[in-house]
Amino acid sequence: GLAEDVRRVSGLIREVADFPQAGVLFRDLSPLLADAEGFRVVVDAMALHAAEGTDVVVGIESRGFLLGAAVAHKLGLGVVGVRKPGKLPAVAHRVDYDLEYGTAALELPEGTLAPGARALVVDDVLATGGTVEAACALVEYVGAEVSVVSVVMELAALNGRDRLAGRKVRSLLTV
Ligand code: PRP
Ligand code: MG
Repeated sequence: GLAEDVRRVSGLIREVADFPQAGVLFRDLSPLLADAEGFRVVVDAMALHAAEGTDVVVGIESRGFLLGAAVAHKLGLGVVGVRKPGKLPAVAHRVDYDLEYGTAALELPEGTLAPGARALVVDDVLATGGTVEAACALVEYVGAEVSVVSVVMELAALNGRDRLAGRKVRSLLTV
């Protein structure tokens, strides 16, 4: 079944030591996404996370764009990209957040999420949870709601799930 398929293709995820900083073990999904079967399996599995009711998919720059767009297409839904600052011509809202090192921000494009819309928030990796938390805050700021957070890989030791209290969080792989 799909769970077995996910386990098999997860072997395509590459671990890169000391990126982007010394001491960090970076999980690089690029080889998995580049593989036809790997991409199909993760997109199919993430689309199942939306079963509880979803109106739109929100993908987080940058790797959440690749996954979110494919998941949205599979579900027959539209896709919204939340972006790093300075890229969007019209911004509905901005949220600043902390990374493991330093700070970052995400912006929601104006005119994309209707009040009450149920959004599936998609990213590749859940680490400290700061990135997904910021994306959820953007969705909620405009009166939409997070139906589910869907990620390929969750780094359990960093407790990102704890920052996302009140939202449903689904991951295909937990390490
Ligand atoms: C990585 C990853 C997640 C985020 C997870 O993105 O793709 O989005 O970090 O970390 P967190 O849970 O601690 O916030 P990154 O900021 O490296 O940017 P990128 O996706 O554009 O490469
Ligand atoms: Mg990212």
